[in-house]
Amino acid sequence: MNIVTDEISTSMAAGSWIRKMFEKGRELKNTFGEDAVCDFSLGNPDVPPPFAAKAALEEIASNAVKPLGLGYCPNAGIPYVREAMAAYLSRQQQTSVDASHVIMSVGAAGAMVSFFRAVIEKDDEVLVSAPYFVEYGFYCGHFGGKLRAIPALTPDFTPDVEALAKAINPKTRVLLINSPNNPTGCIYSEEVLKKIAALVDAENERREREGGRPLFLLSDEPYRIFAFDGCTVPPILPLTKWSCVLGSFSKSISLAGERVGYFLVNPAMPGAETLISALILTTRTLGSVNAPVIGQRLAAALLDETVDLSVYDSRRRLMAKVLSSAGIEFPMPKGAFYFFAKSPVEDEMKFVDALLEEKILVVTGKGFGFPGYIRLSCSVDEKIIARAENGFKRAVERVLA
Ligand SMILES: Cc1ncc(COP(=O)(O)O)c(C=O)c1O
Repeated sequence: MNIVTDEISTSMAAGSWIRKMFEKGRELKNTFGEDAVCDFSLGNPDVPPPFAAKAALEEIASNAVKPLGLGYCPNAGIPYVREAMAAYLSRQQQTSVDASHVIMSVGAAGAMVSFFRAVIEKDDEVLVSAPYFVEYGFYCGHFGGKLRAIPALTPDFTPDVEALAKAINPKTRVLLINSPNNPTGCIYSEEVLKKIAALVDAENERREREGGRPLFLLSDEPYRIFAFDGCTVPPILPLTKWSCVLGSFSKSISLAGERVGYFLVNPAMPGAETLISALILTTRTLGSVNAPVIGQRLAAALLDETVDLSVYDSRRRLMAKVLSSAGIEFPMPKGAFYFFAKSPVEDEMKFVDALLEEKILVVTGKGFGFPGYIRLSCSVDEKIIARAENGFKRAVERVLA
């Protein structure tokens, strides 16, 4: 008797490598102790939230114990929080937006799912550059959408704009970009973003002439503040009226468990008001109802704060040193907090297994739609990165022997 749907049981079977990794990691930690395992598989931001979070939470707490202090809020978010977000996003996107264009969400994930619920019909395609965040396929798949991945250009994983252009067809409903990127750390240049925006504009002009629904450019930006080596992340809103931006406070202030994010619709988009109303409806009816109210207030109080980025930068440099000394190739990530490194052998599962023997946990590139690579997260202490050095070297030697 199948207790769950066919679709979900297929997804569970397909994700068995994640489970294998997770179970193996737990087994290793149980046998050898947490400290003996170098776990680079998780993207859970471990750098503490900004110190100002404490006072902000105390203030929130002192106002909470009154009628509706913790009650439902409007489905689009707490009005003063949306106002603050509009000012913040206007600066960030170099475009004037007001509160009516911003909806607070249950993390970046919740924002994306609400959007897909609002715009995806069965068999619509969501076009993305591979490697990509593995959950995208599930998010659009819930509503019958299909993720179509186009391999990025190596070695630095810039999107292949020409190949993306060729892949656009009448079923393409969303072109989804993610910069700084998980898993590669690539920050898309303004030049590349302009080309992508031009593609979307050209396609929409054609659809306006010949009929058809719009193609959206959706920018997933939970890592926007994680930009190193003097890099900046160009804003997307000025580039095309068909753009939407979503993001969250999961990484920027280490608020991942509190689930607060946002969705911003370009005010210049034809039909923007209808899209916003649809997003309010889908946020409500998907069961989220509204973004968590404590988290919204906390995020609004901390809009000018970030986690200590120098901690991530220093880990990034150390990881680069450790991987290089083991002879592992990778493009130096300019953003986010991951490394997407080349496996020394074509079948990266062999390398992943050799690393497991060294009690080093990583994620396979296959999981991000890009075999032959591994992803390492730098949301771990420098001590662990340094300790893994010899293990990396031995694993490389063994797979190459
Ligand atoms: C690229 C990308 N998008 C979206 C998310 C979801 O983030 P959130 O915790 O804000 O829902 C993540 C989380 O790791 C991510 O890496």
